[in-house]
Amino acid sequence: MYSRRGMVETRLKNLRERLISLQGVTMGICLWFSVLLLTSVVAANKFCFPGCSCEVETFGLFDSFSLTKVDCSGVGNHIVPVSIPLDTSYLDLSNNKLTSVNESVLSGPGYTTLVNLNLSYNQLVKISPTTFSKLRYLESLDLSHNLLEELPDHSFFYSPLVELDLSFNRLQGIQIGAFTSKSNGKAIHINLTNNLINSISRRPDDPVPNIQSLDLSGNQLRSVHGLQGIPLQYLNLDRNPISTIEDHNFLGLKGLTHLSLSKMENLREIAPHSFKDLPALQILDFSNNQNLKTLSKDVFVGLSSLQELNLLNSGVASLPKDTLQHLPSMKSITWGKNIHCVKTLKESQFHLQNGVVRREVLVCRDDRGAVSAQDVL
Ligand SMILES: *[C@@H]1O[C@H](CO)[C@@H](O)[C@H](O)[C@H]1NC(C)=O
Ligand SMILES: *[C@@H]1O[C@H](CO)[C@@H](O)[C@H](O)[C@H]1NC(C)=O
Ligand SMILES: *[C@@H]1O[C@H](CO)[C@@H](O)[C@H](O)[C@H]1NC(C)=O
Repeated sequence: MYSRRGMVETRLKNLRERLISLQGVTMGICLWFSVLLLTSVVAANKFCFPGCSCEVETFGLFDSFSLTKVDCSGVGNHIVPVSIPLDTSYLDLSNNKLTSVNESVLSGPGYTTLVNLNLSYNQLVKISPTTFSKLRYLESLDLSHNLLEELPDHSFFYSPLVELDLSFNRLQGIQIGAFTSKSNGKAIHINLTNNLINSISRRPDDPVPNIQSLDLSGNQLRSVHGLQGIPLQYLNLDRNPISTIEDHNFLGLKGLTHLSLSKMENLREIAPHSFKDLPALQILDFSNNQNLKTLSKDVFVGLSSLQELNLLNSGVASLPKDTLQHLPSMKSITWGKNIHCVKTLKESQFHLQNGVVRREVLVCRDDRGAVSAQDVL
């Protein structure tokens, strides 16, 4: 996952590149001047807003660069607008009972270059397409644990977000256009877990946002729609009241490598060919689906990259005999109460005079020891 350290390092790298180009132009004594100059700018910038704490990290030659983390969490709703040092990379406004924020609050010196903003654990009911419009370098935005009910189109249009946390809000319908971004370059990870989402839709003319991972667990989805063509690698639909997976649900998700369909109390049926359009899928999680009792072998058609299948604590008692033939890349299956099966190459010398024959077999174990694959599959 994307880390703050990573962000700081990216920033540091940019600064370093700037310094190197500066070195190229000025060289020698001029370099000393610029280092001195930068240090003095930093020194003049130590002011920290009352109630907040400012933590300065310095980098580079003679600590010539610094990035500041401004922590204004738990101060109270009079905290905005808060002025921040020019070199602020991380602003924490969590736990402040804020009921609204707007672009005039989130602008001014320091905001334009902010990389990381934390607005979690407030009482924000809505945002507008202009709320974050001044944050032109924002890469991580935490809006979790608020009261957001909807996201207007282009909500995050101007910010090159990489990580967006919207978990624990009250969102109901999601319009994919909300995530359209101006640059549309960087892949974004979006967390929508624990909302009230019952529909996802995308207008055909909207550009496809570059969403790489989407966590929709713990919502009210009864079916899967609106995700076609999004370059997802990770999709989580755990804990949604979906009763049937239909054969068109995952069309156009050719880059998907990890799909989680776990803890779905209502899930009873998976239509044949449901995963036929997922040639890159490596991990498929069906665990803890107690009402899912059978899987036909045609369910697995097309899963040519699947390596891991998780059926732990599901209601499925056996798989059709030739299931493995559809799954050439399969490495392990987890099963039943706690049975792990690993595909192993077995050598036998009986069949061929000229050498050994290698056969792929499933070797399975439970808590008490080896079990035969025939018994469990
Ligand atoms: C922005 O929010 C602040 C604080 O909530 C408020 O005082 C101000 O009037 C708002 N400005 C606009 C343009 O809505
Ligand atoms: C935002 O603040 C909350 C509460 O202080 C914290 O739990 C969370 O990890 C922070 N989010 C980020 C992305 O740092
Ligand atoms: C989304 O947020 C929830 C709650 O904080 C967390 O448990 C989950 O791991 C996150 N999902 C991803 C994919 O990071």
